[in-house]
Amino acid sequence: MAQQTAAASATKVRLKILRGVGSDAASERYDTFEVPREEGMVVLNAIHYIQTNIDPSLSARWNCKAAKCGSCSAEINGRPKLMCKTRVDSLEGEITVEPMKAFPRIRDLVTDVEENWRVAAMIPPFTPRADASKDWRFFQRDVERSREFRRCIECFLCQDVCHVVREHKADYIGPRWVVKAASLDMHPMDGLNRADFMKDKGGLGYCNITKCCQEVCPEHIVITDDAIIPEKERVVDRRYDPLLLLYRRMRRANPLLWLYQRMPRSQKQVEADTKSALKVVFWGLLLAPFVIVPLYYLFLSLLG
Ligand code: SF4
Ligand code: SF4
Ligand code: FES
Repeated sequence: MAQQTAAASATKVRLKILRGVGSDAASERYDTFEVPREEGMVVLNAIHYIQTNIDPSLSARWNCKAAKCGSCSAEINGRPKLMCKTRVDSLEGEITVEPMKAFPRIRDLVTDVEENWRVAAMIPPFTPRADASKDWRFFQRDVERSREFRRCIECFLCQDVCHVVREHKADYIGPRWVVKAASLDMHPMDGLNRADFMKDKGGLGYCNITKCCQEVCPEHIVITDDAIIPEKERVVDRRYDPLLLLYRRMRRANPLLWLYQRMPRSQKQVEADTKSALKVVFWGLLLAPFVIVPLYYLFLSLLG
């Protein structure tokens, strides 16, 4: 009997699929299906088999079947994954497939991700630097910084796994959109500072860097380390760095600084230059006594 069961599981894949219509709790149920196992089979193949041969009413979204369109996102055994990239032989026993829980369900495995387009429209768009030359020449190494973020396929698995998006939807734009903002902020020809937006409307402070989002990204974007943390650092620089706060106060009162800012330089460059200059002054003042006092005593000893 045990041998028969093992033989059946070698030739069949058993799927437990959460079904339902919209937010109607009464329509929610798990249906179980068995489909023939095939070599190299992914979960989406099993879903297609069910739709073609067992239950054509099962709803699922897909498009490319090549892990590039970001349509087939779901929760497989409780973990956000692309159905077309998840091989059934990487999973043991019965496979549970559920829709993404961070978004409202439309039907079965299809969710409504429209909220994302509203958030996308909020992000201040690419704005060329004031000093941008006509042919936009910049170094390859500057391009590399934001290239990683352009691999995003907008599958929204990172949004799905983020506990802050699930629990504070209205307040935090979520990891996908921090990646988007970072790609703009790190573009070598962009001249806008999005730190105020990220702090006030983006709710970046809600992210507590658990790194769950980067663990599920099918494009292996290092979301927290490469996008979220640098964006948080920009917010700290802009809103809490005492040297930059001092600079802004001085800028209001000092015509020379006002003139410097009128020179054709981007706001980001001005702030970076000023920060470096203020750091030199700060450390200079701090270390000066340790240099001046010994020199003074050396001078006195030479005199006398
Ligand atoms: S690191 Fe931040 S954005 Fe990513 S899952 Fe955790 S709280 Fe959400
Ligand atoms: S950052 Fe990664 S997980 Fe998030 S939407 Fe883009 S590809 Fe998907
Ligand atoms: S069908 Fe396109 S990513 Fe899965």
